[in-house]
Formats: sequence, C-alpha cells, structure tokens
Amino acid sequence: MSYSTLLTSLTDNIFTITINRTDKLNALNKEVFIDLNNAIDEIQHNSAIQSAIITGAGNKAFVAGADITEFTCLTITEATALSKKGQDIFFKIENSAKPVIAAVNGFALGGGCELAMACHFRIASDNAKFGQPEVNLGLIPGYGGTQRLTQLIGKGRAIEMLVSGNMIDAATALQYGLVNYVVPAAELLNKATAILTLINTKAPVAVAACIGAANAVYDKSTDGYLAEINAFGHCFGTADMIEGTTAFLEKRKPHFTGK
Ligand code: COA
Repeated sequence: MSYSTLLTSLTDNIFTITINRTDKLNALNKEVFIDLNNAIDEIQHNSAIQSAIITGAGNKAFVAGADITEFTCLTITEATALSKKGQDIFFKIENSAKPVIAAVNGFALGGGCELAMACHFRIASDNAKFGQPEVNLGLIPGYGGTQRLTQLIGKGRAIEMLVSGNMIDAATALQYGLVNYVVPAAELLNKATAILTLINTKAPVAVAACIGAANAVYDKSTDGYLAEINAFGHCFGTADMIEGTTAFLEKRKPHFTGK
C-alpha cells in the first residue's frame, strides 16, 4: 500500500512507518491520521509483517503534535469527534497483536507524545524531547495522553508535565520510565531493529498474549490477572508452546510457526 504522508518499508519482517511531514515537524493532520490508521491495519493483515517501528522523518522531530492549524475552526462536537477518532487509532496501535515500538528521534509533543505512548514501548535518541504542551493552547491532551502518561510515569510526574506543559529531555524520560533506552541519534533505528529482530524469534501467539495480558492491567472492564490466567491457558493449546518447550528440553532453537 502507498501513503501520501508516510514512508514505509518492510525488511526482515519488520515494518517501518516513518511519518513524513518534515516542513511541519511531522504534525498529525487529517491525512496522517487516515494513513496511520491504514498502516496499522496493514500490520495486522500482512502476514509478512511480524513487528513494526514508528518514527518521524528528519532529525528534528518524531511528531510535534496534532496539527494546530486544524484546531482553529473546530466546534465542540467536531473536537469531541476528533478526540474519539484519535483515541480509536491509538487504541488500535496499543491493542496490536504484533509489537509496535516508537523510535523517538526528536520532539514528541502533544499528539506525538501520545502516539509514542500508545506504542508498546519506546526508544529515544539522545536529542528527543517529550511533552504535553496542550495547556499552552488552552487544551488538554485528547488522544489518551492524560491516561497513558499517568500509567507510564505515575500520577505526580504526569500531572506536573500535564499542567506545566514543560518538556523533559531523553535522560529524564529514561529516568521516569517513559522510554526503555536512550541511544545516539545515528543508532536509533539500529537499536529498534535489533530489539525487534530478537522479539521476532519468539512465539507469535505468546508475544500477542503478553501484549494482551499487559494491556488488560489498564482495562478497567477486565481483571488483568484473570486475563493473564486465560491467556496463559490459551498458550497451552498452541503448536508454538509445544515447540518452544520441546526445543528447550532438546537444547535446540525453537522454530515457531504462529500456530
Ligand atoms: N501543528 C502545526 N504546525 C506545526 C506544529 C504543530 N503541532 N509544530 C510545528 N509546526 C510547524 C511550525 O508552525 C513551522 O511551520 P512554518 O515553517 O510554516 O512556520 C514548522 O512546523 C517548524 O516549526 P517551528 O516552530 O518554526 O520550529 P522551532 O524549532 O522554532 O520550534 C517546537 C519547535 C516543536 C518547539 C515548536 O514548533 C512548537 O512548539 N510546536 C507546537 C508544539 C505543540 O504545542 N504541540 C501540541 C499540539 S496540540
């Protein structure tokens, strides 16, 4: 599939999505949302894709937020619908059965920070900056930011970031647990690829079940521990679980088929 606002590539079963509006620091406008939604669907439907990276084009920004130019004439009803639409797309990323990680290569502000947080985990370049500056615009985050920031870094730090609009640098994001690694900018995609290459050797059914069970912790309509019990049990009906345990006992590498 081709996209007007995204660059995509598929190498060794890793799908890389690069948001490509460098003149606007990769801000999320209507077209990016349509493309991103379709690209997330492509991850699920293309069996050659095992995992994905989301990053931004250029060396300055991951995504500098929702496109503020599209905010100026929205009615309350239209803004409410936009927030719902953004949340739905980001839920789709969060609930992807295939791992989706963010390679944050610069500013991740507003909707950009929210996009990174919807991914399963984050790797940052040393020049990355994170923030929810919506208060500066008389707004609040609308694409899940108030929820996921609190989940990821805790209530006190999250509320400080939300109400101050202050940015944090990559080192602080690492200290807060917002990102898993900070690497030199030139190493960012290599690091993301290396991690996904390892994950891609694991049993896909088990990988999907880990994501689902971890997400269930935050799903107020589901008991996460019960979800874990059910997912754990489900693994035992899969060929990959038999292959994985057998390979361990036979002291060889497993060959997983996703069944
Ligand atoms: N929406 C629309 N356009 C944006 C944007 C956004 N969120 N963020 C940046 N841009 C545009 C700028 O308007 C500018 O466009 P122009 O060249 O046509 O004037 C271009 O991207 C470059 O940005 P600029 O502000 O000149 O770069 P900078 O290095 O001086 O500052 C930022 C970088 C990220 C600090 C600054 O762009 C910024 O504060 N952006 C908005 C962040 C924000 O509030 N995000 C949350 C939105 S809800």
